[in-house]
Amino acid sequence: MLKILFIILPLLISSVCSKLFTDPTLIADDYDFVVVGAGIGGSVVANRLSENPSWKVLLIEAGMDNAGLEAISTPFLAPTDSPNKEWTWNYTTVPQPGLLNRTLTYQRGKILGGTSSINFMIYTRGSTDFWDNIASYTGDLGWSWASIVSYFIKLESVTAPADHHDTKGQWQPLAHGLSGPLAISLPGASTEINKRIVQTTRTNSSEFPFIVDGNTGFPLGISWVQATINDTLRASAAAAYLAPQYLARPNLHVLIQQQVTKVIFQKNGRGLPHATSVQLSSSPSSPIFTVSASREIILSAGSIGSAQLLLLSGIGEQEALAAQNITSVFNNPEVGQNMIDHPCLVNHWIANSTNTLDLLSQNTTDFNAAEAQYEATGEGEMVDTVSPLIGIFRLPPNSAIFKEFPKVKTASGPNAGQFEFLWRDGWATFLPVPYPNGSYTSVSQVVLSPASRGSLVLASSDPFTAPIIDPGFLTSEYDVLMSRAAVKASRDFMNTPPWKGFNMGLAPDQADAVTDDEIDTYVRENTTPIYHMTSTVRMESTTGGDGVVDSSLQVKGVTGLRVVDNSVFPFIIEGHPEATIYALAERASDLIKFTWKDF
Ligand SMILES: Cc1cc2nc3c(=O)[nH]c(=O)nc-3n(C[C@H](O)[C@H](O)[C@H](O)COP(=O)(O)OP(=O)(O)OC[C@H]3O[C@@H](n4cnc5c(N)ncnc54)[C@H](O)[C@@H]3O)c2cc1C
Ligand SMILES: *[C@@H]1O[C@H](CO)[C@@H](O)[C@H](O)[C@H]1NC(C)=O
Ligand SMILES: *[C@@H]1O[C@H](CO)[C@@H](O)[C@H](O)[C@H]1NC(C)=O
Ligand SMILES: *[C@@H]1O[C@H](CO)[C@@H](O)[C@H](O)[C@H]1NC(C)=O
Ligand SMILES: *[C@@H]1O[C@H](CO)[C@@H](O)[C@H](O)[C@H]1NC(C)=O
Ligand SMILES: *[C@@H]1O[C@H](CO)[C@@H](O)[C@H](O)[C@H]1NC(C)=O
Ligand SMILES: *[C@@H]1O[C@H](CO)[C@@H](O)[C@H](O)[C@H]1NC(C)=O
Ligand SMILES: *[C@@H]1O[C@H](CO)[C@@H](O)[C@H](O)[C@H]1NC(C)=O
Ligand SMILES: *[C@@H]1O[C@H](CO)[C@@H](O)[C@H](O)[C@H]1NC(C)=O
Repeated sequence: MLKILFIILPLLISSVCSKLFTDPTLIADDYDFVVVGAGIGGSVVANRLSENPSWKVLLIEAGMDNAGLEAISTPFLAPTDSPNKEWTWNYTTVPQPGLLNRTLTYQRGKILGGTSSINFMIYTRGSTDFWDNIASYTGDLGWSWASIVSYFIKLESVTAPADHHDTKGQWQPLAHGLSGPLAISLPGASTEINKRIVQTTRTNSSEFPFIVDGNTGFPLGISWVQATINDTLRASAAAAYLAPQYLARPNLHVLIQQQVTKVIFQKNGRGLPHATSVQLSSSPSSPIFTVSASREIILSAGSIGSAQLLLLSGIGEQEALAAQNITSVFNNPEVGQNMIDHPCLVNHWIANSTNTLDLLSQNTTDFNAAEAQYEATGEGEMVDTVSPLIGIFRLPPNSAIFKEFPKVKTASGPNAGQFEFLWRDGWATFLPVPYPNGSYTSVSQVVLSPASRGSLVLASSDPFTAPIIDPGFLTSEYDVLMSRAAVKASRDFMNTPPWKGFNMGLAPDQADAVTDDEIDTYVRENTTPIYHMTSTVRMESTTGGDGVVDSSLQVKGVTGLRVVDNSVFPFIIEGHPEATIYALAERASDLIKFTWKDF
């Protein structure tokens, strides 16, 4: 009888209002699985687990609905996203000693789709070495490239670019999936720099080679960007995995605008703490509700959210938790530690052009015209994300930096990159500086395998108080030297023959950075995050005695609790993380299904 009510009640509700719940009193109070956070990890897991109609699945998201928000769905508007929006967490880092004590805003999505609803949509699977390294580190061959590639095929749907141009030679069709939930596509509008970038791969191919597809496991070189865009619209985790046909499943409930504040444990038969339920609330002054899970609770709250929630729930360093009056459930000093993020720096050149994308940022008339074209025809500048191509590179093996830092792991292996370039036909920045007048070309550089490590600790036992976030950018001198090398490589790139007559020289912000010392200061003054934070809840190694989750993503020291999001990777990808999180969550869903197949 209860079961029938459970199925009928939400159907009745959904016929009169949205399928999304905001009021916890309208949902059931017990489920088979409770998933926390509707970002990439959580949207995938909730979708896949609810494929089994006999499992009741609840997905809880702290943020708002993504439906109807053009600032989210229009690809071009991604770069203008900033923190302190209705749909973002308002995080700030502590002063960064490696960045001359600057504090940084740290962007995270607080909305269905999570950070995939505000990110730049660049889709990179990583190299064979990235995955094989995780497999050998964890001793779990399921994380190897050979195993994980089937999940990429399963989750992708390559779709036509918005301008429907002939994409022959711009990607490798055999490497991709054609019927998964997540749309990926090539750029759908051309800018004046596209042909120059491609020409450079011809004039200077030994330093800057062209590769047909960066997602075959061998990403070294320059390739066309594959982005999570379906025609003209952002393909977020919500658009892909929480599409109406999935939300229509009677056994999947999605509760929004409710923050999970704690995981509750009870001793199981073997005397281990077993995760039985979660507490949630919509604000510090709102009532607290409890929902239980008879099989598992899955945390997918992201590299900040999942670590904070484990700490709030008593899993972390015992003494630090005691100082916050939090009762220890399992003493694990690694929770929140080992944080890795990519330092990013945007280099600018003055462009000899009256046609850069700067026009759209500087001139309201032009912006409105582009928006009108986008809405009327689905074409023009607004269909694309920040960069048309992506370059992944290594320094020559005999570079001095490797002799100076012999112990630094400079990449997952020889197929993985050490630094990356992205290009923009205009001024790009993550810094809170006014948009300058004039026309520019930007080369953004990313140090792909940084040696610096950061950490996250609780500022308070109040779940609505942000934790203390310290990414530790450029605290290792290795990262400064790699940044310096990348600055020089970006100048080499912009001085190649195809840019003659277009590149009018260094923009004022880097014009004075000539000597190594000056370049290092320029690096420290201008480096920002690119928001790829990982490893705060990392998988354990075969050595044992380390890590927070095992290789099947179960939290060590307790039962009934997994973490499925970017926080569990033991290393940072030499690229952009979203593709790897989708694949991780697809495999995690299979691991969970396998665990419960006989029950
Ligand atoms: C500006 C920007 C640009 C980026 N560009 C790219 C890019 O081009 N390509 C790429 O691959 N990656 C990019 N990234 C990074 C990428 O988007 C993230 O790494 C990825 O979305 C992380 O996925 P996740 O599942 O770990 O967490 P998220 O996607 O962050 O999802 C976590 C979800 O959990 C919710 N949550 C947190 N705490 C709670 C709680 N207590 N209760 C309930 N819900 C909670 C959050 O609101 C959020 O919805 C970018 C990031 C930013 C900020
Ligand atoms: C966001 O954080 C900044 C800096 O800490 C603060 O000034 C601002 O009021 C915060 N905004 C919101 C909406 O909380
Ligand atoms: C950064 O702050 C620390 C601690 O306050 C201080 O010792 C250091 O000198 C500062 N560095 C700079 C460059 O201001
Ligand atoms: C892309 O969008 C079209 C039109 O809305 C839709 O029919 C299709 O299913 C979408 N593809 C994917 C992979 O989401
Ligand atoms: C912890 O509890 C003690 C005793 O109730 C109290 O004095 C102290 O202020 C609390 N500490 C924190 C950080 O809340
Ligand atoms: C903005 O663009 C329009 C159309 O291209 C042009 O007529 C106008 O002069 C520009 N405004 C400025 C301030 O440059
Ligand atoms: C840009 O140009 C406008 C109009 O000429 C001027 O008012 C403004 O001060 C300039 N801004 C900068 C940053 O130079
Ligand atoms: C690029 O190629 C040109 C010749 O085409 C050569 O003169 C130049 O040195 C090369 N530049 C770099 C940075 O390799
Ligand atoms: C700027 O570009 C134009 C062609 O678009 C060219 O004629 C002119 O010489 C260039 N200016 C410089 C200073 O190179």
